[in-house]
Amino acid sequence: MNKKIALTGIKPTGNPHIGNYFGAIKPALELAKEYETRYFIADYHALNQTKDPDILRQQIYEIAAAWLACGLEPEHNLIYKQSAVPQTFELNTILLAFTPKGLMNRAHAYKALLQNNLEANRDPDDGVNMGLFTYPVLMSADILLFDSDVVPVGTDQQQHLEMAADIAEDVNRNYNKELLKIPAPLIRKETGLITGLDGRKMSKSYNNAIPMFLPPKQLRKLLMKIVTNSQTIEESKDPETCNVFALYKLFADEKQQQEMKERYLAGGMGWGHAKQALFELMNEHLTPFRERYDTLMADKGYIDKILAEGSAKARELAEAKLVFLRKEMGVR
Ligand code: ADP
Ligand code: TRP
Repeated sequence: MNKKIALTGIKPTGNPHIGNYFGAIKPALELAKEYETRYFIADYHALNQTKDPDILRQQIYEIAAAWLACGLEPEHNLIYKQSAVPQTFELNTILLAFTPKGLMNRAHAYKALLQNNLEANRDPDDGVNMGLFTYPVLMSADILLFDSDVVPVGTDQQQHLEMAADIAEDVNRNYNKELLKIPAPLIRKETGLITGLDGRKMSKSYNNAIPMFLPPKQLRKLLMKIVTNSQTIEESKDPETCNVFALYKLFADEKQQQEMKERYLAGGMGWGHAKQALFELMNEHLTPFRERYDTLMADKGYIDKILAEGSAKARELAEAKLVFLRKEMGVR
């Protein structure tokens, strides 16, 4: 029997962080045992934000190295660059013909920008480019192009996945045939929304992210900035409402979690101690990842080769899908 297909993409818009890892990369790599995988660098999505070519080029390497450092095995898992699979953009054009404008008006990311503009008394469309407005369509093309069954992502992508399913259903309804596979999101309850230094959703855009591959000294310095309350050392503390413990839990086994909970409740542990314990545990887990990442980033020729090979395979699969769609739609 054919294996099911798992697909996910990450935008090269800055250093990959702990939220990307637990929300998308780790669940994606776990699926790699059972599923056929298509994991990619969403570089044309990043162009909506990043207009500096040197920065974009560097950030593409960072995401590729992150996938590989986290355990993606290019001989078993397909890894490619979105921009190197031009069939994506042909499917995007097809899907645009089936996407009601009203659907895009309801997209959270676009609505948030609109709201910010209104609050700041700016033109509602200020800073909104059409790439951003139609972002969910391009993302749908990424997914539908490869007949994806499951898409491992964080909670913030739930709406985009619903839109991809809606658009695909409209296409199928029009042709009265399953031309496109309806994808399902895979969102883990425990790790779908990782919080950052300030307790809000960890995100590059909130400046509260913990990059995965920081050198130990900088990692420690950053962790010391985690926002805590003003309880004294002596006081008993509540682990369940604490930003430090939320991060600690991600890396700790059951026993370590239990011991740390007891230290919180007993009192006598200051925030500095809790943060130091978090640093030590995190650093222990992240060190092998960081070492692999640094080695990869020092050999961009290797990354280029992996991406070129993966993208060539992805193009083949994508072209087969487009040959089918063009014929079914009547342009061939
Ligand atoms: P950011 O929000 O920092 O710009 P991306 O949009 O590039 O990150 O996200 C890439 C992947 O990581 C997506 O699947 C997204 O849902 C997931 N992700 C991002 N931030 C988090 C988070 N704080 N918790 C869980 N998953 C996240
Ligand atoms: N929109 C996703 C994000 O902001 C990135 C992305 C682009 C993606 N295309 C995708 C994720 C396809 C899953 C499937 O994080």
